[in-house]
Order: sequence, then C-alpha cells, then structure tokens
Amino acid sequence: MNSPQTAERADAPTTAAGREWWRTAVIYQIYPRSFSDSTGDGVGDLPGITSRLDDLRDLGIDALWLSPFQRSPQKDAGYDVSDYCDVDPLFGTLADFDEMLTRAHARGIRLIVDLVPNHSSDQHVWFQEALAAAPGSLERARYMFRDGRGVEGELPPNNWESVFGGPAWTRVVEADGTAGQWYLHLFDSSQPDFDWSNEEVREEFRRVLRFWLDRGVDGFRVDVAHGLVKAEGLPDYSPDPDAGSMGGEEADVPYWGQDGVHEVYRDWHRLVAEYDGDRALCAEAWLPTPEKTALWVRPDEMHQAFNFAYLETAWEAPSLRAVIAESIAAYAAVGAPSTWVLSNHDVVRHASRLALTAENPQGHGIGPDSPGKPIPEVGLRRARAATALMLALPGSAYLYQGEELGLPEVIDIPGDARQDPTWFRTNGERYGRDGCRVPIPWAADAPAYGFSPTGAAWLPQPAEWATFARDAQAGDPGSTLSLYRSLIAVRRARGLGGGTLEWLAGFGTDAVAFRNGNVIVVGNTGSTPIPLPDGIVIAASGPLGDGELPADTTVWLTND
Ligand code: BGC
Ligand code: MG
Repeated sequence: MNSPQTAERADAPTTAAGREWWRTAVIYQIYPRSFSDSTGDGVGDLPGITSRLDDLRDLGIDALWLSPFQRSPQKDAGYDVSDYCDVDPLFGTLADFDEMLTRAHARGIRLIVDLVPNHSSDQHVWFQEALAAAPGSLERARYMFRDGRGVEGELPPNNWESVFGGPAWTRVVEADGTAGQWYLHLFDSSQPDFDWSNEEVREEFRRVLRFWLDRGVDGFRVDVAHGLVKAEGLPDYSPDPDAGSMGGEEADVPYWGQDGVHEVYRDWHRLVAEYDGDRALCAEAWLPTPEKTALWVRPDEMHQAFNFAYLETAWEAPSLRAVIAESIAAYAAVGAPSTWVLSNHDVVRHASRLALTAENPQGHGIGPDSPGKPIPEVGLRRARAATALMLALPGSAYLYQGEELGLPEVIDIPGDARQDPTWFRTNGERYGRDGCRVPIPWAADAPAYGFSPTGAAWLPQPAEWATFARDAQAGDPGSTLSLYRSLIAVRRARGLGGGTLEWLAGFGTDAVAFRNGNVIVVGNTGSTPIPLPDGIVIAASGPLGDGELPADTTVWLTND
C-alpha cells in the first residue's frame, strides 16, 4: 500500500490557511449505483465513472464525492458497510478505484469518499463475532448491545425509533437458542450502531481513514456525523413528528449532536492534517440551525458541513435571505466557509421539491398517491433559478448527479420496484428516496438512455427521459446542462466562491438581491416581474423580459 509520502500530489500542494480548495469548491456527488454502468448488470460502477470523467471535467466541477462503493450487502444502498477497506464487487475492485482516482486527479478533479462510522452492516465480521459471543464480551462491546426491559427482557431497552420507521432495537437469539439481548440500530436492523465510547472502535476508524488517505483521496464525507455518540443511560425520547426524519429537532435528542462526538472529529482533524494537500472532512449532520451545524466545523474539527437548513428552505425570498445571512454569519464566526446544497440522494430532487404544494419532509419521498404533485415546468424553472442563486454565493457548493440535467423526482415507481428500506419498514406508508436515485440518462436513443450497455437499470427509468439525456442537451445553449456549465465557469472566472456577499435593497420582498465582487445577483421568487438593474447580463436561469426579471428567474449582471 502507498505510504503518505508516496501519495503526495505535486499538483495539489498544501495551501496557506484560508485558501484551501474546499473553501470555494463546487463538489459533484456521484451516487455510484445510478451514475454509469460499464458491466451491463444495471448497477453503475467505478469503471463507469472513470469512463465519464471528461464529461465531469467539461461541467467544470472541482471535486467529486462518491456515495459508498465499499463492500456491502446493499441493504441500504451501500450505507451498510461490511468491509470498510475494500470495493464491493458490484462496483469493481480496488484497482478500479485507484485508476479512477489517478484519472480524476490527472484532470484536476479531487475525490472525496463516503465514510459510514455510525453503524456497520450486520454482515461485518465484528457484528458476526458479536452475535456469536456472549453478553458482556469484548465482541459485543463494539456495538450497542443491551438487556431488554420487562421480566424476561422481552421489551426493548428504550423507546427509540429507527429513522427508517419501526423500533430502533432488534432482539438477538443467543448461541444456546434462547431469546437474548437487543442491539441498537438508528437505521435499518441490518445497520447496527457502533459503540463510540469503545477505544477499539476509534482505533479501527483511524485505520480506515488512513487506508483511504494513503491511497490518495482528498477527504471524506462523514455519514450521520451528528449520531455517533449516544447520551449516557440511553434515556427515552419520542421524535417530533414534524421534524425531518434525519434529525433537525430543536429539542435535545439523546442520539443526535451529543457533545462527546466532537472529540472524535478533533482526533480525525489531527490525523487528516498529517497528510499533505488540504484533505478535508465534511459532516453530514442534520441539525436544526446553521449555528448548531457550525459547531462541527470549528477550527480543530471538520472542514465543511452540509447546509441542510439551506436545502430545507422553501422558494421564498424572505426565508432565503434569512438562511443565507444566518449561514454566512454562523460559519464565518468559526472561520469556516458556508456550504450550499439543494439536492442529494436522500431528498426529493429540487426540480420537483421547489414546486411541491404539500409538505414532504426529507426521507419521506413522493409517489403515485402523494397529494400536491409538482408541475414539472414550474419545478424546473425554480430549480434553475435556485441553482443560479446558489452558485453565486460565497463558499462551497454541492451538486447531486442529474441536477445538471434538470432531472425531476421520479414519482411513478411501482411498489414492487422500490428498494429503499424506508418503504419496507413503513409498509409503504412512506415512499422513501428511490425517486431521486433513478439511473441518470446519458444518450437519448440508447438502451437505458446510455446508462448501461444492456438497457438494464436497477430502478426503472421514466419513458419521457430522452429529452433530459446529456447528449440531447449538450449542444443546446438553452439547456439546463448549458446553464450549469456557464454558471460554474463564470463563478470560477469571477472568484464568486471566495467572494463576499453584500445585500442590495430596493428590489422588493420577493427578491434575493446581492452583490458578490463585481457581480450583481437578483433572484425573483415571486409571481410578478422585477425591473432589471443596470448592467450587462452574464448569466440568467431563463429568458428575461424587456428590462424585466420574470417570476422564478435569477440573473447575474456586471458593470465592469
Ligand atoms: C445517508 C443515507 C443513509 C443513512 C444511514 C444518511 O444520512 O445519506 O442515505 O441511509 O445515512 O447510513
Ligand atoms: Mg455495473
């Protein structure tokens, strides 16, 4: 294996504090199983990604984040890892990974991998050893095993619920065949939670971090980064039914955001800092406010955290102005950049979400029987405007594969094709996240729209997706793909990621209007046009009226 020394990258030296790449980067999320399938089995894979790197370079992104491709029984699409230091055969081999990384770096694209430290798969060797071992053993102490309540231990240790629905505890059968202890799983029963008070767990994850850093990765997106440490005594807690399912409650939750979790990231910060090239840690932490989330990116902790408060904000100027101002202030207070994100593999795609008329909290999804279906044209117009707003903001922005094509959420997935554990654990009451995970279209006229050579796709693609295909959009200056390319190019050329935001008044309540360097940005979330300010238009999310910014449109102008 490479040593840190041999993994040093001449093209990516460590930079002065304050100028690290992750402060301004546009980072593109690849969901490997749905990106590009080279083998024809209907599941995307690493060679598929390698074959598309030129398309990603042409889009202009700085870095990739890959959702899990490590060994996994795929009970939660790879977020149930059975071996943290290997590639699942579904996606390829470690050699395929190395080749992908080398080729990405050769194109100036950095690569962040997903790390899932809150829980493993129940097929992980440690969990299998724990099941075979006795209560109280060292093997069980790596996970959260507890005796049940009730006379016979027949009741779960507390009332916690799984994020995916149903109880957060499962009872095991002991080696002698009797009903035994219970183990905690904040997610599916196939995802037992580690016990992070156990030093052996901490040491194992240091090894995992080094394994990928030694191979040359530029950082980690850390899954459920608010969840590792649980409150002493595991007190009962009933979630707020109105909160997003991944957390986000205002109340103190005994399994989210416990103080002790920060010590883990201080430790990782030191470890990552031993490597050259500004390697970064990004927290997936669903917390209620930018202020709380900013605790994850204090100077000695992680480098970035997803701005879910921003993602969850409706397409309404006053709320957007508030969350943008709050975010910039909260992150600046700890010396970190804000990040911005509108879509990922856990939420309804923003080309649909921004036109929803009914509440659809993250993780619940939309399906054939959901009320208030979004009107596609409205959703796409708003999505383009929202993206144009986001990419003008100072800080780092995350994109999710397919949003550059304007893909909507897929609503009409038949029940028997759905795969998200949420769908099964709630008996179909919650549709879950399959609608944003459908394999993406590359070619209008090819089988599976060019996703796989055989036409296979692990989730069915809609019949009307030919118009969204990348090749259908590439030469069209009005396409969503062309819009993304030009926004990213202008953002880079004018240094917007590293700029500062100055609010502009006088555009009315429905406008989000600001200056970033020499660029004036106005977004119109209302239903009536706004007069355009003076300046040369350098980008627009849709057609402009005569001297007017139409509804659901964002424009960038300059006077230089
Ligand atoms: C990931 C989800 C996953 C969950 C459990 C999340 O936050 O983004 O896709 O189901 O963690 O690992
Ligand atoms: Mg494949």
